[in-house]
Amino acid sequence: MDVQAIKRTFGIIGTDPELDRAIGIAAQVAATDLTVLITGESGTGKDVFPKIIHQNSTRKHGQYFAVNCGAIPEGTIDSELFGHEKGSFTGAVNERKGYFEIADKGTLFLDATK
Ligand SMILES: Nc1ncnc2c1ncn2[C@@H]1O[C@H](COP(=O)(O)OP(=O)(O)O)[C@@H](O)[C@H]1O
Ligand SMILES: [Mg+2]
Repeated sequence: MDVQAIKRTFGIIGTDPELDRAIGIAAQVAATDLTVLITGESGTGKDVFPKIIHQNSTRKHGQYFAVNCGAIPEGTIDSELFGHEKGSFTGAVNERKGYFEIADKGTLFLDATK
C-alpha cells in the first residue's frame, strides 16, 4: 500500500509532510521483522501505526494483539507477557500462554501509555 492508500484505509486525516513521512516509514518497516518504537505526544494518533505495520506485513494473517501495559499490575507483567507453567508460583493453577506466544507470527503492540 502506498501512503495515500494507507490514509484512506485507516481514515487518517492530514496533509502535513511529516505525517506522510511517518506513514511511509511505517510501510517500509512493515516489510521487516524489526521491532518498532513509536513515540509522540498524547492524542497524535500513534495507535493506528501498529495496525498499519501489521496490515502491511507478511504477518497480517497472524494475530494482531495490543496490550495496555499501564493496566497490568506490577509483579504480574512478566507472567502476562511471557506466560507461565502450571505450579510455577502460588495461584498458577494452570499453564498460561504469554502475549508473545499468542502474537507469534503476528504483531504484538505493547502500548506503554499510562
Ligand atoms: N491524523 C489523524 N487522522 C484521523 N484521526 C486521528 C488523527 N490523529 C489522531 N486521530 C484520532 O485521535 C484519537 C486519539 O488518537 P490515539 O491514536 O489514541 O493517540 P495516541 O495513541 O497518540 O495518544 C483517535 O480517535 C484517533 O483516531
Ligand atoms: Mg495511544
